[in-house]
Amino acid sequence: MSKKLHHVAIIMDGNGRWAQLRDKPRTFGHIKGARVAKKIITYASDNSLKNLTLYAFSTENWLRPHEEVSFLMTLLGRYLKKETENLHKKNIRFSVIGELHKLPVNLQLAVQNTVDLTSKNTGLHLTFALSYSSRQEVVLAVQTIAEKLKSGEIQKFQINEDYVSQHLMTAGTPDPDLIIRTSGESRLSNFMMWQSSYSELYFTPVLWPDYTTNDFAQACRIYNQRERRFGKVFQQNEKSFI
Ligand code: IPE
Ligand code: IPE
Ligand code: MG
Repeated sequence: MSKKLHHVAIIMDGNGRWAQLRDKPRTFGHIKGARVAKKIITYASDNSLKNLTLYAFSTENWLRPHEEVSFLMTLLGRYLKKETENLHKKNIRFSVIGELHKLPVNLQLAVQNTVDLTSKNTGLHLTFALSYSSRQEVVLAVQTIAEKLKSGEIQKFQINEDYVSQHLMTAGTPDPDLIIRTSGESRLSNFMMWQSSYSELYFTPVLWPDYTTNDFAQACRIYNQRERRFGKVFQQNEKSFI
């Protein structure tokens, strides 16, 4: 992995369409999608990526039919049960962003167990966005900051960009350098709106269940060819990005 690429986030989209193209129920696509996620995680870990975030379930996804939601929760539980030891062996640190309290209690416990077990690991930092909404994340941060202001713990001038970042669920993780979305949709769907201010966006038509480590490597290569300017002109940045 390139030194410049510290954090890749993936909006894993297209499971349902992949299954429908094969005349199968949407759940079939989710099962295949989970296998693909495992491959990408292993690849990222083996290639020394520092941070990988996978958007697995949005707040809005709760509005899907009950059967699909409940299947996805079961699949996540199964994934954690099967993979926790592997993640730990690979020195992967697992964490989650999102409103965890909305998940079924047994899943909350499974998530917490994986987070606790891997908390001291120093390899890939793997984050699952579960029941995640970027707007809700900002609302919660504003509420916390407002409380601190009201109680006199902080003063208004202390609220700056860093301070806001520290109150987001992603606190401590660098902003994503690259956000990949599969399935041909060109939108963020309530994902990391604050953190993506200067992320490179990469949209691919490949449906998530068809996504391969080669596709991932290609997205990383294309990222390396991009010129990130952060509002400056190229010459100003040139030295700092070698
Ligand atoms: C992504 O695939 C997985 C989740 C959102 C949980 P979708 O289920 O959104 O698949 P499409 O977009 O309907 O094909
Ligand atoms: C975004 O995909 C959420 C995840 C990939 C988990 P959606 O399929 O829910 O997004 P929309 O509805 O197409 O915007
Ligand atoms: Mg979708």
